[in-house]
Amino acid sequence: MSEPIQIAVVGSGYVGLVAAVCFAEIGHQVVCVDNDQGKVAALESGDVLIHEKHLPELLKRYHNNGIRFTTDLHEAAGGSQAIFIAVGTPQSETGDADLSYVEAVACEIARSLTSYKVIVEKSTVPVYTNEWIGRSIERNGVPRRLFDVVSNPEFLREGTAVEDFLHPDRIVVGADSEAAAALLGAIYAPLTSGAYYSRPQAISGCCSASQPPPLLHTSTKSAEIIKHASNAFLALKISFINAVSNLCEATDANIEQVARGIGLDRRIGPRFLRPGIGYGGSCFPKDVAAFRSVAEQLGIGFNLLTEIEKINALQKKRFLAKVRSALWTLRGKRIGVLGLAFKGETDDIRESPAIDLVQMLLAEGCSVAAYDPAAMERSQQALPASAQLRYVEDAYAAARDADALLVLTDWAEFAALDLKRLAGALRYPIVVDGRNLFDPRLMQEHGFTYISVGRPAVYPAREVELATAGTVRTV
Ligand code: UGA
Repeated sequence: MSEPIQIAVVGSGYVGLVAAVCFAEIGHQVVCVDNDQGKVAALESGDVLIHEKHLPELLKRYHNNGIRFTTDLHEAAGGSQAIFIAVGTPQSETGDADLSYVEAVACEIARSLTSYKVIVEKSTVPVYTNEWIGRSIERNGVPRRLFDVVSNPEFLREGTAVEDFLHPDRIVVGADSEAAAALLGAIYAPLTSGAYYSRPQAISGCCSASQPPPLLHTSTKSAEIIKHASNAFLALKISFINAVSNLCEATDANIEQVARGIGLDRRIGPRFLRPGIGYGGSCFPKDVAAFRSVAEQLGIGFNLLTEIEKINALQKKRFLAKVRSALWTLRGKRIGVLGLAFKGETDDIRESPAIDLVQMLLAEGCSVAAYDPAAMERSQQALPASAQLRYVEDAYAAARDADALLVLTDWAEFAALDLKRLAGALRYPIVVDGRNLFDPRLMQEHGFTYISVGRPAVYPAREVELATAGTVRTV
């Protein structure tokens, strides 16, 4: 492995913490800074705070032996060659990214600069942020020869963040100075040279010693746009497939077949073509809005971004309409809910479409029994339990005596549920699946009325007979 580099990572959220731990994993000396004393104390005691595969083992392995935590940014920055800024960039009321945390960190870093350092923006930020960071450091009296600012966006997904970091499709380094580009090159050398993947304890993934990830060197502005454009494009794929799934529902076509038929075209690709109840999370909603806002400020018409957002919002309403059509009326109905996180394998509920739907159901006068394998604690903080909303211990308890069961998050454990037991627990065997986790034929065999996304609904054999005879209307 190459020479260890002294790195400070400012911010210990998903991106900061994962980056810090992974930099230690590839051989660097890392200090992770956060101004939240409670967070730092928890991390120092070995609590990872987030539900993320590989993170607990790696943190244990490198704690005080490659990584340490502090609240003292001045001390951390002073002793580092590269300072990564990975603080939050929340959405402001206008849709813009609120960059006040980034600015505050830049000003504080300025006070610690006595020798050359590279400041790296890793937070998702709009184009021109790099320039602003440089300007505010200079305004604080630091000469330009003492620092460079690099844009090094991160493309990791929650739930698979460690693997995504260590096995990236690409590493983007936006640097306008050679010295800064060289330092970033050295930081990522264990990955780009393939050396990391030959280690016996390396986390496995799609990269290997013979197929290491490429490092793309760009200008700072290009790197900033790459990040926003990537997330907006992925959101576009999701909204596109959701709109096509609505077309499938109107024509009795099957979105699974259609998505496969589209995705086999190598120019399109099969990933991110899963229809559902709309995208959520801390990134896509915020980043599409911020990208739209940047385009507006620059006078560029980019209405496509507005359409992506519209389709996404509509997808939740369409799902609610499906629940209504399955149950006729909603007031007073008992609904079981499977899933609260914005996607499976994470405990994050930020901008979760599942949480939005629970709120819509409560507003319609339903009572809800909800279960999520990891996001219950966070959900209870956001939506406290009440006479109308209960949090229950497992999926079968959510189904117990419910008028219908809704699948709102794509947890792998839901797809493996015992269908016979589920059907027995429900008052009426009705499942409305917003994530297409089950095979419609199997659901029909188990006696369910099963309504999913972009696929023809199925009904128990008895209801189909009655419907064919014209006795009841099933839809
Ligand atoms: C996303 C990007 O995938 C990462 O590359 C990026 O680094 C990250 O945002 C970020 O900017 O920090 P993440 O928010 O963790 O990662 O989640 P995704 O796996 O991308 O899913 C986002 C949402 O889209 C979820 O609600 C998910 O259920 C939904 N989705 C995803 C679909 O509805 N259909 C799909 O086919 C894929």
